Amino acid sequence: MREYKIAAIPGDGIGTEVIAAGLAALKVLAERDGGFKLNVEHFPWSSDYYKKNGYYIPDGGLAKLKTFDAIFFGAVGAPDVPDHVSLWGLRLPICQGFDQYANVRPARVLPGVTSPLAGGERIDWVIIRENSEGEYSGSGGRVHRGLPEELATETSIFTRNGVERIHRFAFELANKRPRKHLTLVTKSNAQRHGMVMWDEIFYEVAKNYPKVETQRVLVDAVTTQMVLKPYMLDTFVATNLHADILSDLAAALSGSLGIAPTANLNPERKFPSMFEPIHGSAFDITGKGIANPIATFWTASMMLEHLGEKEGALRMMKAIEAVTAKKIHTPDLGGEATTEIVTSAVCDAL
Ligand code: IPM
Ligand code: MG
Repeated sequence: MREYKIAAIPGDGIGTEVIAAGLAALKVLAERDGGFKLNVEHFPWSSDYYKKNGYYIPDGGLAKLKTFDAIFFGAVGAPDVPDHVSLWGLRLPICQGFDQYANVRPARVLPGVTSPLAGGERIDWVIIRENSEGEYSGSGGRVHRGLPEELATETSIFTRNGVERIHRFAFELANKRPRKHLTLVTKSNAQRHGMVMWDEIFYEVAKNYPKVETQRVLVDAVTTQMVLKPYMLDTFVATNLHADILSDLAAALSGSLGIAPTANLNPERKFPSMFEPIHGSAFDITGKGIANPIATFWTASMMLEHLGEKEGALRMMKAIEAVTAKKIHTPDLGGEATTEIVTSAVCDAL
């Protein structure tokens, strides 16, 4: 029996609802499959926990987390905690502390789901987001607070190592996909240092992947391509901030933010990787029982794939598709189903 240690961090808002749904589906899958077992430990780290204790991650928390095979994460963010505090308190220390530099964000229109875009059913993208530096490096400062002279800097950091490894990861992934097509996204017309280095290193790495067709598109232009010619795109590689924005657009074009999954990977496996739905804590619908668990099921499938449970990952995807095809949809997809209804439908399909 293959056993895996999973750290579940439901976090805030609908995070707790969707992680419970995801774990229920994973349990059914593991029991049905028989070949593997997930040993799940829950971590209470959340904004409520922060308000009580003054920290999101206790002393020694990351060291403990490091002993797990994967992290199954819900969401972080609360109306009464500034977003930069919750983000830098919980999610970024894990992503950056565990060197999860490759953030993989697939977008596809699932069966039974309608894209708001004419021709949207041809969307089948993977956005590779640089996840450890760039615009999210946290480098900068503020001086003379509140005075007219107040000044703030927010510096993007790009290192050759960081850029090279994300390009290599993107080429490896593009090379494995049927289209073998990779779009380089930057803004190297206006930003003439870091972005130009991105472009240069991309073409250096490209020499090792002669079978992968490439195109370079500026970030503003790629939004038009995504909307007007979605079929021209396949795999993207972009900086932390650019890919953050593009992945929301990709999720909306593929039907709903409620279905979009993501994997924060440490490809070298020196640290556990983290798997989460993209949607966030969504306090407007928290407690109503209508959060879409599909993003979390898809996330669970990505986690299984990373753990080497390819068959289980595929079976989870097939169960999701069987349920979306029947239009058992939560309100974000235009349906009336609850989280519970979608979850039991996926469990039945499994
Ligand atoms: C995402 C989210 C986060 C990000 C937020 C919650 C800070 O939008 O995962 O895309 O920007 O990284
Ligand atoms: Mg985002």
